[in-house]
Amino acid sequence: MEEAYYSQRLCMKNKISGKTVLITGASSGIGRQLAFDLAAAGAQVLLIARRRERLRAVQQQIEIAGGKAGIWKCDLADRNARQDLIAHILLEENPIDILINNAGFGWYGYYSEMPGEIVSGIIEVNINAMLELTRAILPGMRDRGKGHIINIGSIAGGFPNQGVAVYSASKAFLDAFTTALHRELRGSGVQVSVARFGPVKTEFFDSARSIENGRRVPGEIFSIPVERAARAIERLMFRPQRVIYVPAYLQITRLVENLFGGLIDRMGPLLLKHRVE
Ligand SMILES: NC(=O)c1ccc[n+]([C@@H]2O[C@H](COP(=O)([O-])OP(=O)(O)OC[C@H]3O[C@@H](n4cnc5c(N)ncnc54)[C@H](OP(=O)(O)O)[C@@H]3O)[C@@H](O)[C@H]2O)c1
Repeated sequence: MEEAYYSQRLCMKNKISGKTVLITGASSGIGRQLAFDLAAAGAQVLLIARRRERLRAVQQQIEIAGGKAGIWKCDLADRNARQDLIAHILLEENPIDILINNAGFGWYGYYSEMPGEIVSGIIEVNINAMLELTRAILPGMRDRGKGHIINIGSIAGGFPNQGVAVYSASKAFLDAFTTALHRELRGSGVQVSVARFGPVKTEFFDSARSIENGRRVPGEIFSIPVERAARAIERLMFRPQRVIYVPAYLQITRLVENLFGGLIDRMGPLLLKHRVE
């Protein structure tokens, strides 16, 4: 059992080693863990986020361990900052082999009470940044006949819940876009995947709560460790698929939505109301 595990890890390492991987949202959570794991497997990682000191700390830790990491501070909600980032990426000597559109955030509470700037921020980061980075990097991948774009989705994309309307809709967009692109690129050598995550123990929940909405975010108690989330993405790179669920049992959510959507409609308002107090 252990032997099989180590031989799989070695194969994955061989596949990732020497690749250039761009990770958005690498200053915390899933992106940060991926940065450590992929750099340890021999990838050169380019890390994007707003908090430069956090990025620098990740970079230093990677370099101390003998790995390679570049950092670029960018507010992905800002269109001009995204254009600067894209110009920088296209000037890089090494083309991007793997793009991980991971940056994203949510907000929990009634849509009617949601501040307008947070609505547009979610659309800019979760949707527009993902679209623009993909459009900038994909042509090079197509020309080279290889590459992998991994979009970090959520079960909320297909199982929308009360209190996370805009977040769910942003992940539904990301999900549908990824599926269509995957079909468009079949046979091109470029892989496109979406990872539909359930709850993961990261700052995601703090950030969804940090805006004074005073509510608890559902699902948090079922969170899986971030290391497990990152390992699932590593496996996806090794064996590309259009979609993965993390954890795998969450495949059931699509079925639950189809079969019991009417029941959830009735429970939704009660659940959200309960959490207001
Ligand atoms: N945790 C979960 O339960 C869960 C479940 C399903 C899906 N996901 C998805 O997983 C992805 C990663 O989230 P996480 O759980 O790792 O949360 P996290 O710890 O809060 O990390 C979010 C990352 O996104 C970056 N980010 C947010 N806004 C940004 C902006 N305007 N410009 C640039 N970077 C920005 C943050 O960096 P800065 O703040 O430094 O900019 C941070 O590095 C997200 O797409 C999220 O929707 C998470």
